Amino acid sequence: MTDTPKCPYSGTPLTMSNGAPVIDNQNSLTAGARGPLLAQDLWLNEKLADFAREVIPERRMHAKGSGAFGTFTVTHDITKYTRAKIFSEVGKKTEMFARFTTVAGERGAADAERDIRGFALKFYTEEGNWDMVGNNTPVFFLRDPRKFPDLNKAVKRDPKTNMRSATNNWDFWTLLPEAFHQVTIVMSDRGIPKSYRHMHGFGSHTYSFINADNERFWVKFHFRTQQGIKNLTNEEAEKIIGQDRESHQKDLFEAIEHGDFPKWKMYVQIMPEADADKVPYHPFDLTKVWPKGDYPLIEVGEFELNKNPENFFLDVEQSAFAPSNLVPGISVSPDRMLQARLFNYADAQRYRLGVNRNQIPVNAPRCPVYSNHRDGQGRVGDNYGGRPHYEPNSFNQWQEQPQYAEPPLKISGDAKQWDFREDDSDYFSQPRALFNLMTDEQKQALFDNTAGAMGDALDFIKYRHIRNCHACHPDYGMGVAKALGMTVEDAIKAYDTDPAKHLASCLNPKDFM
Ligand code: HEM
Repeated sequence: MTDTPKCPYSGTPLTMSNGAPVIDNQNSLTAGARGPLLAQDLWLNEKLADFAREVIPERRMHAKGSGAFGTFTVTHDITKYTRAKIFSEVGKKTEMFARFTTVAGERGAADAERDIRGFALKFYTEEGNWDMVGNNTPVFFLRDPRKFPDLNKAVKRDPKTNMRSATNNWDFWTLLPEAFHQVTIVMSDRGIPKSYRHMHGFGSHTYSFINADNERFWVKFHFRTQQGIKNLTNEEAEKIIGQDRESHQKDLFEAIEHGDFPKWKMYVQIMPEADADKVPYHPFDLTKVWPKGDYPLIEVGEFELNKNPENFFLDVEQSAFAPSNLVPGISVSPDRMLQARLFNYADAQRYRLGVNRNQIPVNAPRCPVYSNHRDGQGRVGDNYGGRPHYEPNSFNQWQEQPQYAEPPLKISGDAKQWDFREDDSDYFSQPRALFNLMTDEQKQALFDNTAGAMGDALDFIKYRHIRNCHACHPDYGMGVAKALGMTVEDAIKAYDTDPAKHLASCLNPKDFM
């Protein structure tokens, strides 16, 4: 016989939420032994009412995830680029929280799915929380935020069948050639990380650094796993999902529990402000990387995750990361995707968690906060007591801090819905460079994964994707065509019958021939 495991907590008498004792947690209050319930059963009323409110809305995307606390340590001096206090001296440590996710699946989805992984980090710096809300890929599907809600509709469930739809998913992706780079990465052997510990992270967008001399640099953030990249094949992932839907959660939780703390090194790519006008690619285009040959990785520091949350809902479910959580020395760029995210996350969190979301412990800054936002649902703390409400006032309250002003950013141009396709219609050279780097084995995995994911998508959509692949590289087109049991020639011919020919014509038709 095994011993009953010891509970680490001391005995806890059950009380109602007002602190009054619960006398009986087994039997409801009834009129007679076989009679009906009484409305004055206060504990039953409270228990059922609270139960009905236990679930909060899940995140619209990145709903399934795992999180842990950790420590970031500076290992290299980058103070010539940024005055952010987090980087102020080598050896400096900052507490942090990380949440890793899949994107398309709901809160109960399996971990080992082919999908992008979210890579969200919250650093509790002395000048406020800095959130780095990235992914495990350096680029994204879109260049314009107008398309983001459509992306989510396309990858999530069909409104009629309530099932995921390869047709919806690939119809959308193949009509947006700018998505091709990201699609290639998701369909590659990196599309299903073995665990959250075995993947890199990227800020993806271009952000800016401001240094003590008030100079601006453009910056991209990279986080390289020290556990090594490890991935799953479709077959391995299917087997795992059949046995364990929480494989990533289990891996991360157990590694930390056993003291095998996962680590990532942080690097930055730095572009002097003036270079943005000179580089041959659009430096604020989220579908493009900056070649490392042009802007090499500069090492900054390392973070390790070393503490599991004591309570998942409290810290992981209620965590709220927002690209707008920036600190002096780290700022925005003209990337229009980033610009939209600056508003959308905090807005989503006001709905998901409430206006006082930043008072939830995992989100609360570890430095003094004097925002002068008051009241609202769920407000705790002293609510700024009796301080005057208004600013300006004669009592030195709520003083602005002009010493943190950034250098002016030149903005020019006429307001118009500028078509980025006219600005830069090179969708294929970066994915082509990536394809050329792949071994034959990796190329074959790309072809097979693509064919597997396209599943029962309609034929004209498959043809359209083959054409896009062919435009990237003839071998890519041929490989995917073969894996789908089709031919490039038929795909090119099918152009004339493609219902979205008019949209596809925004590409250079020569690319398809
Ligand atoms: C989650 C919007 C692009 C990474 C979310 C959430 C929203 C959102 C509303 C849920 C927030 C919450 O309820 O807490 C958008 C929009 C985008 C965009 C409008 C483009 C215009 C991106 C990109 C990345 C990214 C490009 C990565 C580079 C994430 C991550 C999460 C997330 C990691 C989950 C954060 C967490 O763990 O709580 N996004 N997103 N998103 N997004 Fe985005």
